[in-house]
Amino acid sequence: MLADDIRKAGEILRAGGLVAFPTETVYGLGANAYSDQAVAEIFAVKGRPQFNPLIVHVSSVNSAEEIVVFSDTATLLAKHFCPGPLTLVLPRKDTKISYLVSAGLDTVAVRMPSHPLAHALLLEAGVPVAAPSANVSGTLSPTCAEDVKASLGSRIDMILDGGASDVGVESTVLDLTSDTPALLRAGGVTVEEIEKVLGKTLLKSDSAHKEVEVPRSPGQLLSHYAPKLPVRINVTEPLPDEAFLGFGSLNKGEVLNLSPSGDLKEAAANLFRYLRRLDQPETFSGIAVAPIPAKGLGLAINDRLTRASFPRG
Ligand code: TXA
Ligand code: MG
Repeated sequence: MLADDIRKAGEILRAGGLVAFPTETVYGLGANAYSDQAVAEIFAVKGRPQFNPLIVHVSSVNSAEEIVVFSDTATLLAKHFCPGPLTLVLPRKDTKISYLVSAGLDTVAVRMPSHPLAHALLLEAGVPVAAPSANVSGTLSPTCAEDVKASLGSRIDMILDGGASDVGVESTVLDLTSDTPALLRAGGVTVEEIEKVLGKTLLKSDSAHKEVEVPRSPGQLLSHYAPKLPVRINVTEPLPDEAFLGFGSLNKGEVLNLSPSGDLKEAAANLFRYLRRLDQPETFSGIAVAPIPAKGLGLAINDRLTRASFPRG
């Protein structure tokens, strides 16, 4: 029974498991957006070498307003296109949304899918759901349950089958954090439709014009979030006034440890929250990070730390 499946899927999500579910664009791989561990599991299962920020799916505009600060433009666009294939990037409120969801950024992307099963699941789950497309990184986005099964099958807790997605391309992503709305990804709602409602043109980067997902180079995006303090990586002997972020059993006076047992999934879950906690220029001269093995989720962790450690000026 479908109602039983939805109830079970909601339970799995609340408990920190992964559920693939249909949306009108593509199938999503959902996790409780409040849980660092559940979101880390998304990255582990997809095998993404980088932490791209994920979209938070909600069942109503009201729920979105609990997560992010709506501007007049956001309210206008939501009135016209939500529910539907439109994602809005807005400043985050003081919320429990995992920082891994937003890859450390102070903004969160929110979307209200129109697919009835997605809507029912979000209502049932009662928590916001972070979800990228439900496929292994670097492969095509899935538009039916069979695609998801072929790509992720046994690695996830449940697949809700809602038939074929009608739109077939991902949602349009708009950055509404500055005065001029900017197109970050072309998608299910066309630029023309949006510009008509706004009565003005969107800022567009070259890559955003393309039909398919060309994430505005994650490097470019992630450089928006860098700790205020300088970051040194692969450190085994921290300086006395540095905040030491440990991994495994180094015992060099670390202030925080990403994972004392050396578990990469736990380290990924803690990464952005811990960097923020250590980022105290009044107390420390810099952040020194222990070596992290460059395998599995360690690739994404090292990618992020390498970016954070680039000299800034
Ligand atoms: O149609 C869709 O949007 C599908 C379904 C499952 O809803 N989801 C999807 O998620 O395509 P994903 O993770 O593959 O794409 C998320 C996009 C990326 O281009 C990412 O860079 C952007 O949204 N994004 C997410 N959070 C952001 C943020 N805080 N700032 C800027 N861009 C963000
Ligand atoms: Mg994708």
